[in-house]
Amino acid sequence: MSERRTLIAGNWKMNGSVAETLALAGGLADKLKAADDVNFEMLVCPSAILIPAAVSAVKGSDIQVGGQDNHANAKGAHTGDTAVSMFKDAGCSYAIVGHSERRTDHGETDDVVKAKAVAAHSAGLVAVICIGETEAERDAGKTLDVNGSQIAGSVPDGSTAENTVVAYEPVWAIGTGRTPTSAEVQDVHAFIRGELAKKIGDAEAAKTRILYGGSMNPGNSKELLALADVDGGLIGGASLKVEDFWAVAENA
Ligand code: PGA
Repeated sequence: MSERRTLIAGNWKMNGSVAETLALAGGLADKLKAADDVNFEMLVCPSAILIPAAVSAVKGSDIQVGGQDNHANAKGAHTGDTAVSMFKDAGCSYAIVGHSERRTDHGETDDVVKAKAVAAHSAGLVAVICIGETEAERDAGKTLDVNGSQIAGSVPDGSTAENTVVAYEPVWAIGTGRTPTSAEVQDVHAFIRGELAKKIGDAEAAKTRILYGGSMNPGNSKELLALADVDGGLIGGASLKVEDFWAVAENA
């Protein structure tokens, strides 16, 4: 039995209003409170401005709240950005960094992602570090190379299983309804754990949770979450409805 506790994380991206966030987070909190024998941890990551609504709605439940992206610096002249201390102050315990939408939309490099993860760690937040290959990279047979170099470049030295989660998200699977086969997912996850071991040592790598993300839904999550090196999911579209997200979690 793995000592890694399954993490079911919702990446709500740029979706929702205050009312919708209260309903979604509150609905999930009600489900979790009513459930017994829960064998997973649940995390929701709303847009920064909706974090207070989510935090108030999950109060009294074990649902964790996280930011979607933090600046690497502690404070200062960075218009439009959010500091880790602000996430912490608002009640967050996690921060997603290096999502492919950030890497693509904002040109974030591995160095930038690593600096953001360092900042998250320094504030006591768990960094969910996202990696993944594009379709062109996969077609060119570069899947392992790309993920290996993103682990080497994006994960800070000295990261631990306590302060770091890795999310493997093939870019071509995000929001497309397509996923790799289970065998492919397991192969990449096992490879990532090996690359992580080079970086943080065998013992920490063995304890670090590696999530799969990219079109995970109630229909495919049972098979994906059962894979030996898959320790949870980072879920976009299917995390925006209470019933769907809960159904994914129940498959943990
Ligand atoms: P998706 O998004 O579940 O909608 O594919 C996952 C993600 O981008 O984290």
